[in-house]
Amino acid sequence: MEYKLKDTISKDAFRYGYLVKKIAPFLKPHLGRIVLNLILAIPLGLLDGVVAFALKPYMDCVINGKSWVIFGFTIEQNVLATAIPFAIVTFAIVQGLLKYTNNYLTDWTGNKISNSLKIELFRKLTSLDPKFYDINSSGIVLTRFFTDPETASKNIINTLKTFIMTSFGIVGLVGVLLYNSWKLALIGVGIMAIAITPVTLIRKKIKKVSNATMVVGGDMTTTFNETFAGNKIMNAYNLQELQNNKFEQKIHEQFNLTISLTKRVGWMSPIMYFICSIGIALVMFYGNHLIISGQMTAGSFASFVTSLLLLYKPVKDLGRTLTDLQSTFVALGRVFELFDLIPHIKNKENAVKMTKLNSSIEFEHVNFEYEKDTPILKDFSLSVKKGETIALVGNSGGGKSTTVNLLPRFYDIKDGSIKFDGIDIRDLEIVSLRDNISFVFQDNFLFSGSIKENILMGKPDATDDEISIVIKMAHLDEFIDTLENGIDTYVGERGTSLSGGQRQRVAIARAMIKNAPIVILDEATSALDNESEAIVQKALDNLMQNKTVFVIAHRLSTINNADRIAVINEGELVELGTHDELMNIPDGNYKHLYDMQFKNQEITV
Ligand SMILES: Nc1ncnc2c1ncn2[C@@H]1O[C@H](COP(=O)(O)OP(=O)(O)O)[C@@H](O)[C@H]1O
Ligand SMILES: [Mg+2]
Repeated sequence: MEYKLKDTISKDAFRYGYLVKKIAPFLKPHLGRIVLNLILAIPLGLLDGVVAFALKPYMDCVINGKSWVIFGFTIEQNVLATAIPFAIVTFAIVQGLLKYTNNYLTDWTGNKISNSLKIELFRKLTSLDPKFYDINSSGIVLTRFFTDPETASKNIINTLKTFIMTSFGIVGLVGVLLYNSWKLALIGVGIMAIAITPVTLIRKKIKKVSNATMVVGGDMTTTFNETFAGNKIMNAYNLQELQNNKFEQKIHEQFNLTISLTKRVGWMSPIMYFICSIGIALVMFYGNHLIISGQMTAGSFASFVTSLLLLYKPVKDLGRTLTDLQSTFVALGRVFELFDLIPHIKNKENAVKMTKLNSSIEFEHVNFEYEKDTPILKDFSLSVKKGETIALVGNSGGGKSTTVNLLPRFYDIKDGSIKFDGIDIRDLEIVSLRDNISFVFQDNFLFSGSIKENILMGKPDATDDEISIVIKMAHLDEFIDTLENGIDTYVGERGTSLSGGQRQRVAIARAMIKNAPIVILDEATSALDNESEAIVQKALDNLMQNKTVFVIAHRLSTINNADRIAVINEGELVELGTHDELMNIPDGNYKHLYDMQFKNQEITV
């Protein structure tokens, strides 16, 4: 199952049956309202015909003073003369009420459906594993999220409704045409049919342009996000112009796309008017002949021409509805492509719940690759006993972070196995597995909310006492005392109001309160200056107590304190042992690293 989302059209865009089946469960809870909405569209569509129809008796009977015979009934002129003005007002009221109810229902159901789609989509997004986020740009994902569900759900009701309304509008008006003169009707409808053919031809082009617009939109969103996430870098390297230009270029692309569509579509409307005018001219010619020869009354003719003119709009709308329906399905296709993504990392059937670590963690002949045929870890074997602290060292890009990322199953291995207490981690319940691991990274993410809320994410039901303990242990107490709102201080979307060291200590407190038996520290102090590093290190020392620890660090003392050191080079475990053992290997990798990296620290420490 491929994770990569296409920039434009999904593979399912044209499997209409499949898409209808997929959207059905979202429509079902609102079925009553949807059906009512669609039923209301019928009288709304027919109303135009009634107006056109009423012109005949009005002109022929009221103006000419005759009584009106319809379907065997006779209506007197004076009754008609009073009734018609009243009928017009009553009509407007009925029409207004119908329209209001109809629009209300459309918006209500459209938004409800769109909301439930979004909620489900967001669930899907949070359920996907890191790989999805490695390979898809935020722009594409956000577009799928914000635009498509709206288009899909709102259009689907609207399109259906318009379809019914226009169809019945057409039926009503054509009925009036036929009632007045079937010969004229034939001419009128024939010409109309010719006039709308270009609409059907242009649809492909519209689709192509709308796809291209979508890609450009995604790119723009990505540029926006970069401005947020990479703001400091942008300023540091004076990249404002570069970003501005990138954005401007996308705006131009969007403009060109829109204009190219207008150029191709814009001529259609005038052409249609032109063809229609020919139709009306023909109708006039022939109609005059019919009236003069007494085959048709003036009222019938007025009613006929009015119907024909009114017919133009629903016919045009019907053409547009078909195009809309197309884009609805395209949007639905994109939405359900996301829905259909299956997380690569998921629980096995009969997965075992992990309660704690009892004896050991084993990597057995692990092979791993992020991308097909690019091996990262090669036949990697390592056994770590409970309570042991193991340091991972090696050249940058060697695979240290990758190794520890495999423990919480951020990624699954290609072959070999990783076992906790002899059980393959793929047989463990993922949530319970991750409950047993605390992770502190180099750059820790704080969620928008207070310091307290961020710490509680480690253990939502922690008591205030527990919180104050971890705050002390994480050496946060002095800092928090200086804050006006203390632990309730809001740390913002990216926690940027805190210094690197402070943010790191909040993250450590979060990890501490979780109290997981396995602790992973991936360069947790690397981004800090000496002073904050010292205090963060103290906090980390507290976090590491009595835990099974994997530590990736540049700091000598951390490595010295480790029980064993594993040297990872190019994805292979090349040396394993205590500091002294490894130092004794002549020409050893560790000795070399030590001389290059750690020895200087020893002098300054
Ligand atoms: N998410 C990823 N997708 C693809 N390749 C990755 C990803 N993360 C790391 N790599 C690659 O895997 C290799 C090991 O990276 P990493 O484990 O981060 O090394 P280290 O932590 O030892 O510096 C590198 O070649 C890196 O480019
Ligand atoms: Mg790393």
